[in-house]
Amino acid sequence: LHVIHIAAEMAPVAKVGGLGDVLSALSKALQKKGHLVEIVLPKYDCMQYESIQNLRVLDIVVESYFDGQLFKNKIWIGTVEGLPVYFIEPLHPAKFFWRGKTYGEPDDLKRFSYFSRAALELLHQAGKKPDIIHCHDWQTAFVAPLYWDLYAPKGLNSARICFTCHNFEYQGTAPASEIASCGLDIHHLNRPDRMQDHSSPDRINPVKGAIVFSNIVTTVSPTYAQEVRTSQGGQGLQATINAHAQKFVGILNGIDTDCWNPATDGYLRFQYNANDLEGKAENKKALQRHLGLSVSDSRRPLVGCITRLVPQKGVHLIRHAIYRALELGGQFVLLGSSPVPNIRREFEEIAKKFENHEHVRLILKYDEALSHSIYASSDMFIIPSIFEPCGLTQMIAMRYGAIPIARKTGGLNDSVFDVDDDTIPVQLRNGYTFVTPDEQAFNGAFDRAFNHYMNDNESWQELINRVMSIDFSWDTSASQYEELYVQSVSRARAARR
Ligand code: ADP
Ligand code: GLC
Repeated sequence: LHVIHIAAEMAPVAKVGGLGDVLSALSKALQKKGHLVEIVLPKYDCMQYESIQNLRVLDIVVESYFDGQLFKNKIWIGTVEGLPVYFIEPLHPAKFFWRGKTYGEPDDLKRFSYFSRAALELLHQAGKKPDIIHCHDWQTAFVAPLYWDLYAPKGLNSARICFTCHNFEYQGTAPASEIASCGLDIHHLNRPDRMQDHSSPDRINPVKGAIVFSNIVTTVSPTYAQEVRTSQGGQGLQATINAHAQKFVGILNGIDTDCWNPATDGYLRFQYNANDLEGKAENKKALQRHLGLSVSDSRRPLVGCITRLVPQKGVHLIRHAIYRALELGGQFVLLGSSPVPNIRREFEEIAKKFENHEHVRLILKYDEALSHSIYASSDMFIIPSIFEPCGLTQMIAMRYGAIPIARKTGGLNDSVFDVDDDTIPVQLRNGYTFVTPDEQAFNGAFDRAFNHYMNDNESWQELINRVMSIDFSWDTSASQYEELYVQSVSRARAARR
């Protein structure tokens, strides 16, 4: 198959969170299965350019429509992680991707609706005939309705559209007039069964449009796929999801096991594997020294947390865990960045309070290299999310031998299984879980983990061995995407005959 992903992130060139990881790892897995996979990204000024090989400008200039005018786009191509990637550089006066950041601009809606339109225009003008156009999250949700309105009739009509929603909290909802800029026919689309948002007849919802107009709709874990069909989890889209349930499925993400591999990880001072954990202990000491934490007691567990600090991630429980870890005799390292001003301020204050503490350090920024050292150094890793579509950090933590303590929600419920849960086969049990999002329930899991670590070193070592051997690769999940693609393409071919 020929698959083209259109997205706002891809690791390592343009990564904000898990979406970036998924884009490159899923694409690599599909490529390994023999498919032709290409990716279209915006050309951000703030990309990690050193991760792009052979970056060059193509000698086509793609013109795309926006706000009633045509704008030229420079098209670049390069190789990232062995994958061909097109980068769109709009020659538009608003310099949409020349802002020093990926998201969080007041005109994000314009930036990404422009990009969605330009990406389809690129495929059309370059004469691409993909079997599957796969778009991700609200930033490229516009692709689905644009495709059926404007590009299917222009000959791109062999493609099936797959939309993956990585997080239904972000829907890109906006006034109808703003959404019209990229050329969507709002009169035709502003209906309750199409793109009209449930909150008001004047607002348009891009994610809703992608659900309605895609051939395949997925989200990133089976449990989250169930949760979003209810009024508690659906963020207002549950009725639309239920109306399109026959094409909606939850597929658990994997992780890139080449990039996240403690035996080969170039970011680590000491590589290690499940049979030889010496390096893990050495990395812990190196991190403690690097952060100015006490190194003296090797039996003091280090608790790690690497996250965007947003309400979804259970920030009140993260804050609580810092103090609880100290009470229980542990150390705590948080690596987190926050786009939410009051959360950022709150954690800045906590960071300041502990800036010289021998057992706690908060590092409030995005830092890829440091993230690898923290995964490798942690004995335990907390993910107390309020909701979690999939979550990758629990899987990465396990791959590095850090035992997860997670709330049972979304993809955490599909990947973390409590050590003390007798209903689960022993070989699947890999961490500690809790249900209610409060401090007491969190302590129930956290304290058990500490108890286990402090009092039964032998079985703790066995647990580390077990979690490090779990297969979190994309092999199985990529096959599920492949199957959905093939079925959809076959159905379309049968219908054309
Ligand atoms: P989300 O996409 O909701 O942020 P995921 O668990 O799916 O959560 O993915 C988070 C990814 O981003 C992981 O690869 C994690 O290591 C990384 N990450 C999160 N915060 C930081 C940070 N401050 N510095 C470095 N990496 C981070
Ligand atoms: C989103 C979700 C996260 C998921 C990631 C990749 O950012 O918040 O749970 O792992 O997308 O699919």
